[in-house]
Amino acid sequence: MRTIAVINQKGGVGKTTVTLNLSHALALQGYRVLAIDADPQGHLSMAFGLEDPAGLDRVLQDGARLQDAFSEAGNGLQIVAAGDQLQEVENLNEGGAERGWRLKKALDALEQPFDFVLIDCPPSAGLLGMNAIIAADEMLIPVAGDFLALNGLSRLMRILQGVEARLGSTRKKWIVLSRFVEQRRHAREVRERIREHFAEALLPTTIRETVVLAESPSFGQTIFEYQPRHRAAGDFQQLAADLVAAGAPTTTRPTAAHA
Ligand SMILES: Nc1ncnc2c1ncn2[C@@H]1O[C@H](COP(=O)(O)OP(=O)(O)O)[C@@H](O)[C@H]1O
Ligand SMILES: [Mg+2]
Repeated sequence: MRTIAVINQKGGVGKTTVTLNLSHALALQGYRVLAIDADPQGHLSMAFGLEDPAGLDRVLQDGARLQDAFSEAGNGLQIVAAGDQLQEVENLNEGGAERGWRLKKALDALEQPFDFVLIDCPPSAGLLGMNAIIAADEMLIPVAGDFLALNGLSRLMRILQGVEARLGSTRKKWIVLSRFVEQRRHAREVRERIREHFAEALLPTTIRETVVLAESPSFGQTIFEYQPRHRAAGDFQQLAADLVAAGAPTTTRPTAAHA
């Protein structure tokens, strides 16, 4: 089971869009996928067309079993909705360090493991983000090609390294350019800088900016339901293939050189 936190403390970079469409892409490639909405805003749950009042909040607050929080998204995916009490979990004060380990424990207790678990993180470095980081063995970092992207990325890498040092364990980190506009010089510059500094982490596939990706969630659909023949669907199929290749022990990890 590969548990991947889709993480960036910056909002609007494409975390939810990537989690939504990447989980469906992996499911279409035959993998068993669980998508977890760890953002109290519940955008992922909504994008999957779920209006579940309960979900991850019960797991983290009351110790409910993860499988009791599953919802069927109707496309072969299992989803854990955020639940309307998730913000309260973020503000939880009792419990000490144990509070950060609840999601990991819930995943470890799953009776049937998945091939992939994707966690859509909130845009903050609070308790929910901590649960995601501790539970995951890989971090997928969407980066939008804007002016402040590099700044945010360096900061996030430092935060993650700090957490890893405290935990005494490291996680693989993948970067995906998530709202890429090839025609923008600045976006190309951001890509070059990331190649310079994080070549190992940068996945070869970029997700291009396109309005259909912004539209599909309002219909409660992934891109594969909304416009399966659109190039955006192809981008996500390729991103899924990148991640599969990145985890395969027998092949070399893809690098930006293949892009
Ligand atoms: N590749 C893309 N092309 C067009 N719009 C996108 C793309 N990725 C994300 N968006 C839009 O940008 C906004 C922020 O994306 P979202 O995935 O919600 O980011 P986050 O979860 O990091 O806050 C949303 O309105 C979303 O639909
Ligand atoms: Mg989001």
